[in-house]
Amino acid sequence: MCGIIGYIGGRQATPLLVGGLKKLEYRGYDSAGVSVFNNGESRVVRCRGKLVGLEDKLAREPAPGTVGIGHTRWATHGRPSDENSHPHKVGPISVIHNGIIENHLALRAELASAGAQFSSETDTEIFAHLVSRELATQAQANLTSAVRAALAKVRGSYAFVVMSDKEPGTLVAAKNSSPLVVGLGEGENFVASDVTAILSETRKVIFVDEGEIVTITRDGVVITDFDGNVKVKEPKLITWSAMQAEKGGFKHFMLKEIHEQPRAVADTLTGRVDLERDDITLDGIDLDVAKIKRIVFIACGTSYHASLVGEFLVEALARIPVEVDLASEFRYRDPIIGPGDLVIAVSQSGETLDTMEAVREAKKKGATVLAISNVLESSIPRLADHAFYTHAGPEIGVASTKAFTTQLVAMAMLAIHLGRRTKALSAEKARALIGELVQLPQKMRDVVETGAQLQVLARRYGNSHGFLFLGRGSQYPIALEGALKLKEISYIHAEGYAAGEMKHGPIALIDETLPVIVLVPRGPHYEKVISNLAEVRARQGKVLAVATKGDNEIGSHADEVVLVPDTALELQPILTVLPLQLLSYYVADGKGTDVDQPRNLAKSVTVE
Ligand code: M6R
Repeated sequence: MCGIIGYIGGRQATPLLVGGLKKLEYRGYDSAGVSVFNNGESRVVRCRGKLVGLEDKLAREPAPGTVGIGHTRWATHGRPSDENSHPHKVGPISVIHNGIIENHLALRAELASAGAQFSSETDTEIFAHLVSRELATQAQANLTSAVRAALAKVRGSYAFVVMSDKEPGTLVAAKNSSPLVVGLGEGENFVASDVTAILSETRKVIFVDEGEIVTITRDGVVITDFDGNVKVKEPKLITWSAMQAEKGGFKHFMLKEIHEQPRAVADTLTGRVDLERDDITLDGIDLDVAKIKRIVFIACGTSYHASLVGEFLVEALARIPVEVDLASEFRYRDPIIGPGDLVIAVSQSGETLDTMEAVREAKKKGATVLAISNVLESSIPRLADHAFYTHAGPEIGVASTKAFTTQLVAMAMLAIHLGRRTKALSAEKARALIGELVQLPQKMRDVVETGAQLQVLARRYGNSHGFLFLGRGSQYPIALEGALKLKEISYIHAEGYAAGEMKHGPIALIDETLPVIVLVPRGPHYEKVISNLAEVRARQGKVLAVATKGDNEIGSHADEVVLVPDTALELQPILTVLPLQLLSYYVADGKGTDVDQPRNLAKSVTVE
């Protein structure tokens, strides 16, 4: 997804801009560029492809200067190309933009009929024309007033940063739906789409809210709303270390993040377990549980799979009816939702546009919204009535791992909290579950440290043309997640299926070339899954079983067995997903794919 950075101060801007953009590489992008002001004029250098291409170009055509803006683009309007890369410059105005201008066609036509010439296919260039026109036609125009007037003409989701050759001591930024943060330094200031981009330079930040315009100079910032009213906001101090976002000795961020899961889960639990009352506290969130008639989870991708596990947990422990919806479908079917419904929006990044729009729809219809997210102050939690953070730490690999397992832990905590209040969950059962929850980090450590076995299996089966993943009950979402993980980073086709559905179609796929990963931990579905597994073997399919330590039978039913520690039935998905993450990782690494930034994918999907 697109990344934004801007700098104004006394240092050379270009290295700071490129350095910041590198920190945002994990978001996924297809082109990059900078515009830097020097000697009365800003100079734009941009190109399609990775940042290394931009650095080569900058080495040949340096862009000196102490004020500048930089961007990494993930194409939405117009193909990835040099011309469509940001910044876009029209007259004295340079613009970078994340998001989409919805009325770009009408604006383009209007500008063209007034004589504007376009040099790209992007919606962003339109904004550069609008600001440039305002600057030329307003009697008392300055950059901020011109941006404000141009914003009144655009509809959509955006974060803009604008620079003018006529006012080089100022950067102007504006936000609606896309994230933006200002970083404060001494005699210098920054603006970025993500705090990671500026963390090595400053920890003092102001998160820009919806409908705010920020005028940034070397010496300070002035925040106004779209009507020009000044807003006073206190800066926040960010405590993440820049090192937290580095690879820390692992070959890829994804592998590092797989190994970080025990600690991440411990952090999710910290301060929320009430051993005296056999209860879970939700950071002071005060849900009127007696009034909740139904819970609706909305999410995308991996967060959707976590929500499917949440459905099992909440229904089993709290006995509240649950539905799970894909956020991208939810708002387009005029959902029957309103007061009495608790909508739980699950989003690791907190920025997924489909989920954000579904939240808006739910709120419009009167539902209460609780967000489960990993990113503090991100858009979805800020939009929701309540926010519960997973505290997994920054997740850089596009393929979600620690964000997923911490979401599962959050689901279990929420289900216990609700169950204690609906009285469906006894103190005794809650105590047992909480006891298992606190033991999870150690059990997870045991699994991730058995990576060598998965490396061997990846080598043995990694050249297969496809994989099938099967599970029943709460292992079914884990089968879906295993298949998603494998396909997104290894580009091998994989399907996740409810094991009982196999006979209704996918059984036709089975032959001696198809590895079938079967999730078969101990529990009520064990015998049934063993029967499914026998059906696979009868057709010469290769069975890789994920089972519980101490299961002495499973070896006679499977070609390969991976064992995970025993835990409460409700928490098994948190352990069984770990070998699937490792298998995907090693298959992809064996194929030499770009594991952390798989093709065509972005870390946070802020377009529909
Ligand atoms: O940030 P979110 O949790 O809202 O993201 C949702 C999906 O885009 C995300 O889970 C995606 O499926 C991941 N690439 C999965 O690894």
